[in-house]
Amino acid sequence: MKGINFITARTKVLCIIGYPIEHSMSPIMHNAAIQDLNLNYIYLAFSIYPNNLELAVEAFRAFNIKGINVTIPFKQKIMEYLDDIDTITQKIGAINTIKNDKGYLTGRNTDAEGGKKAILNAGYTILGKNILLLGAGGAARALSYILANDVNKIVIANRTEKRAEKLTNELKKSFGINAEPKKFNNYVLREEAKTADILINTTPVGMYPNVDKSPIPAEFLHKDLIVFDVVYNPLETKLIKEATKKGCKTLGGLDMLVNQGASAFEWWTNKKPNVNLMKKIIIEFLSKKEYEFFKNKNNKKNNKLLY
Ligand SMILES: NC(=O)c1ccc[n+]([C@@H]2O[C@H](COP(=O)([O-])OP(=O)(O)OC[C@H]3O[C@@H](n4cnc5c(N)ncnc54)[C@H](OP(=O)(O)O)[C@@H]3O)[C@@H](O)[C@H]2O)c1
Repeated sequence: MKGINFITARTKVLCIIGYPIEHSMSPIMHNAAIQDLNLNYIYLAFSIYPNNLELAVEAFRAFNIKGINVTIPFKQKIMEYLDDIDTITQKIGAINTIKNDKGYLTGRNTDAEGGKKAILNAGYTILGKNILLLGAGGAARALSYILANDVNKIVIANRTEKRAEKLTNELKKSFGINAEPKKFNNYVLREEAKTADILINTTPVGMYPNVDKSPIPAEFLHKDLIVFDVVYNPLETKLIKEATKKGCKTLGGLDMLVNQGASAFEWWTNKKPNVNLMKKIIIEFLSKKEYEFFKNKNNKKNNKLLY
């Protein structure tokens, strides 16, 4: 990093909104990238009470906030207040990034491209592969839409089977692919893991503070499986630890987090951020003693880390 930037009357503002937002990693990685490139930007986090969402969107225009990340619980609701959303993002049904062009707000889902980039950058091929996707929520929708064109088959196992059915129907209709909904249970996981090439966990099972949980019993994993856990807190989940022990190739959620952030950053600033630096700064932050304090102090109600 190249020293401290001055915050001046010309400094452009980027931000993330959510509720709660105190545990977001985004300000840490974006401000590191801003300083590294010596840009006149600052990235802040705003906790927006849910009833004030529409007001917040008006404030983006009024205060000329150049770029906005959106997290829980606003990813779907905010879509109705924007001026433009690209087709794939409309289909995914959730946005996590907004660009403000002179008051014209365009929404996009960079989780999808961030997840795909993370897989490809790790050197894993998705072309013609059989995917076993655990979960059918926001992250599952983003990943299944972005991967659907390349893979051979997607099996979606979800606790609420209807949600898996809805998503597989959409994928079949949009891409004509082989997609099957399944109920999330051990029988299904054992059978489906046998023929899967890539297992992707998009459920929060194993996320802090429930770090001793894994969405799938270790005995169902096999060495030919690539295991991608989108959970990034802890950096190494129980699933990733067990998969590594079984000889699987693995990928944790941090790479997706950083790549979705990098895509947003480049879209807003037209500059490529240093992805390795963004990743390094989060690892550094998460491994620091102060983080324990930060977690304990603020995390009594919501034991979650957002991005
Ligand atoms: N690395 C990244 O960049 C990144 C990006 C996005 C999300 N994430 C992480 O991904 C996880 C999911 O986020 P999301 O936005 O997709 O959440 P979401 O929309 O709430 O979806 C959660 C999904 O997990 C399932 N689920 C929840 N608890 C479960 C349990 N105990 N057992 C089995 N299934 C369960 C839900 O099933 P039902 O349909 O039955 O409720 C749903 O399908 C979070 O941990 C989040 O931090 C990471």
